[in-house]
Amino acid sequence: MIEVLVVSKKAAADDICVFELARPNGAALPPFSAGAHIDVQLPSGIIRQYSLCNHPNESHRYEIGVLKDPASRGGSLAMHDQVSEGDRIQISEPRNHFPLVHEAKRSLLFAGGIGVTPILCMAERLAHAGADFDMHYCTRSPARTAFIERIQASSFADRVKFHFDDGDAAQKLDAASLLATPTAGTHLYVCGPGGFMEHVLKTAEALGWPAEQVHREYFAAAAVDHSSDGSFEIKLSSTGQVLEIPADKTVIEVLEAHDIEIPFSCESGVCGTCLTRVLEGEPDHRDYFLTEAEKAKNDQFTPCCSRAQSPRLVLDI
Ligand code: FES
Repeated sequence: MIEVLVVSKKAAADDICVFELARPNGAALPPFSAGAHIDVQLPSGIIRQYSLCNHPNESHRYEIGVLKDPASRGGSLAMHDQVSEGDRIQISEPRNHFPLVHEAKRSLLFAGGIGVTPILCMAERLAHAGADFDMHYCTRSPARTAFIERIQASSFADRVKFHFDDGDAAQKLDAASLLATPTAGTHLYVCGPGGFMEHVLKTAEALGWPAEQVHREYFAAAAVDHSSDGSFEIKLSSTGQVLEIPADKTVIEVLEAHDIEIPFSCESGVCGTCLTRVLEGEPDHRDYFLTEAEKAKNDQFTPCCSRAQSPRLVLDI
């Protein structure tokens, strides 16, 4: 982990704070690319992921935007209420599961709410590179639109269209028109809340956009219905130990109860930290991290939230 100083904490919109993080001695931070995120360790010890939203050419600081989400399981509330300017916190090196395809002829960026953080970083990068792109940014209202001034003052302001839920019908996002013609060389990037993501992704799929041209990052898992969850077994390939996973426990919870530690972070299938190889059996994938093609291979799964279709999974643990 890297210790960083919270250089500033500023309100960027209603319920959204932007944190500027730097090394206490001012030394350079590890480089990152557009779409990258860092793990942030909160005062309670839990770890959450936040996308970097400053320009990737900057090495003296990282900037993250955090929405105060009342439905948060402790992450965003703690960032808002317990982390202050002048605090020192631990973060990971940046990782990128949502990179730009640099050979794209054109990029179409779709941001919903706080999902703007990686998308803004991408827009900065594309503008800096002189690449062809357009950005669509959907929020509930101007007051809930983070970075609105930064975008309006940017060199790429004319490439960004804002869409407000409380605005008139003419300015609402019309994904079907924007995506009407799948075009070779054009890549889509989508980040936002579940309903927004589903709308854009389903529209793209229905209109024939090839999966390899559509890139998405979930920043929060949607609520999951656990009412039909059943029990299953896991077998650890290293020791042959077999553990029962009851309907009301995750694989990680059972492993922890047996003092078997594997790395995990978001506990909701978003970050990929817990990704584990599956040697036998068929997982019931519940995560937002693996692509559909990766899920279909059934050779890895996220034990923080995913379960099993088969009675037993043999895991590479
Ligand atoms: S801990 Fe994040 S996907 Fe499992």
